[in-house]
Amino acid sequence: MAPRGGQGSKTPKFGESDFVVVANRLPVDLERQPDGSTTWKRSPGGLVTALEPLLRRRSGAWVGWPGITDDGGEIGHDPIEQDDLQLHPVSLSTDDVAEYYEGFSNATLWPLYHDVIVKPIYHREWWDRYVDVNRRFAEATSRAAAKGATVWVQDYQLQLVPQMLRELRPDLTIGFFLHIPFPPVELFMQMPWRTEIIKGLLGADLVGFHLAGGAQNFLILSRRLIGANTSRGSVGVRARYGEVEVADRAVRVGAFPISIDSGALAQAARDRHVKRRAREIRAELGNPRKIMLGVDRLDYTKGIDVRLKAFSELLAEGRIKRDDTVLVQLATPSRERVESYQLLRNDIEREVGHINGEYAEVGHPMVHYIHRAVPRDELIAFFVAADVMLVTPLRDGMNLVAKEYVACRNDLGGALVLSEFTGAAAELRQAYLVNPHDLEGVKDVIEAALSQTDEEGRRRMRALRRQVLAHDVDRWARSFLDALSEAHPPGSK
Ligand code: ADP
Ligand code: G6P
Repeated sequence: MAPRGGQGSKTPKFGESDFVVVANRLPVDLERQPDGSTTWKRSPGGLVTALEPLLRRRSGAWVGWPGITDDGGEIGHDPIEQDDLQLHPVSLSTDDVAEYYEGFSNATLWPLYHDVIVKPIYHREWWDRYVDVNRRFAEATSRAAAKGATVWVQDYQLQLVPQMLRELRPDLTIGFFLHIPFPPVELFMQMPWRTEIIKGLLGADLVGFHLAGGAQNFLILSRRLIGANTSRGSVGVRARYGEVEVADRAVRVGAFPISIDSGALAQAARDRHVKRRAREIRAELGNPRKIMLGVDRLDYTKGIDVRLKAFSELLAEGRIKRDDTVLVQLATPSRERVESYQLLRNDIEREVGHINGEYAEVGHPMVHYIHRAVPRDELIAFFVAADVMLVTPLRDGMNLVAKEYVACRNDLGGALVLSEFTGAAAELRQAYLVNPHDLEGVKDVIEAALSQTDEEGRRRMRALRRQVLAHDVDRWARSFLDALSEAHPPGSK
């Protein structure tokens, strides 16, 4: 499809789309098959879960990386039509992937923004590559966006895009949303390129975080690092926005907790095939009295090791009976070339082996560990089957899995064990909340969740469902986009 505008000039100035999402990944990954052909597969992670249904409803454009390396420029820039979406690929070379994606995004920013659970690595070459790739994303977005379009930039991989895009296209309305925690000021100050990152984000008209605390940190850093005037009052959730003055503009800052397509998920969980599959899963697991479930990308932020250790000690102490309860851990492979992820995988698999070695019988493992993404309906059946859902991250921006579990429990059954260190804990107050650093506390809470009465379980699940069903992903997007259009009314500079 040829972009319009700029007739007569070599580089057309404007694209076609009035609404453009920009994220590191496209919602689908290209996969190369052994015979050289390619197929599309859904991309991993909560960002895609949240945004994909939303963008399909709006028939927008999505700028992102198709998930494979492209050294020969085979992928090109041309938009690809997929169902109701227009995908604008940004191709990354092997070096881009190593330095921008695995390096600066996932070995520098990811650990720094998640409370330095592992030590962030600061490399100047990775930073240079981050700048370079962010510029290419900004250019690709500029080619996709129509005059005066609204552009919504997503997440930590693209923090320089708002400023770069504003320089290229001052006509655009630009929003930015961070899907991971924004760190405390003391930690952010480690970053050698801290001023550049704050300036990059301030290119947006609205910068959004999950929690008010993140917005507050950002206001402090804007004052401290670039000497900007900012609002001083506290920021509310979907209300009471903060403001940063930059040159002749005001940048709005707010808190918008993300969510899921709760209604669609609840509906899918009512399907009789899903319910039948949930019963089959229980039977396949040997009809244990209790099924505990973990569902995560295999990431060190998720506290998978915490729940395994707690399970192991509860078995050792006889507080969980070995013929009574099983744990299913579904773990999507993630960032497998980054060293800290390789170390984590070794640790998890050693612990699973240890627990099964100590307590399993032939044909009856205690931990069922599946290292792959499972199809959507199968995942829903697992949620419906699980008596206790274990969500124990050491730090997590939101954690959509917790909300998905709640949405699937139309029967008011099940129990959610939820780390206080997730964004979701701010909303899901009726979960069994735990401090994942306190192993004895985690064990006590798991035991309490396993032995809750039906009445207690229903009381908690009813309250959780009220929250999750009322605050769905549409509401999240609407609240962000409404705040964005107020921050930059159509026709304003
Ligand atoms: P993150 O974005 O850090 O991966 P979230 O909990 O916010 O964490 O989102 C994860 C998304 O990926 C959810 O939609 C969840 O259902 C999905 N997911 C995680 N693990 C699996 C798995 N093993 N199989 C299928 N989907 C998974
Ligand atoms: C989290 C991040 C997303 C990321 C996803 C999957 O949800 O916030 O930006 O896309 O994890 O990670 P990956 O590195 O595979 O894209």
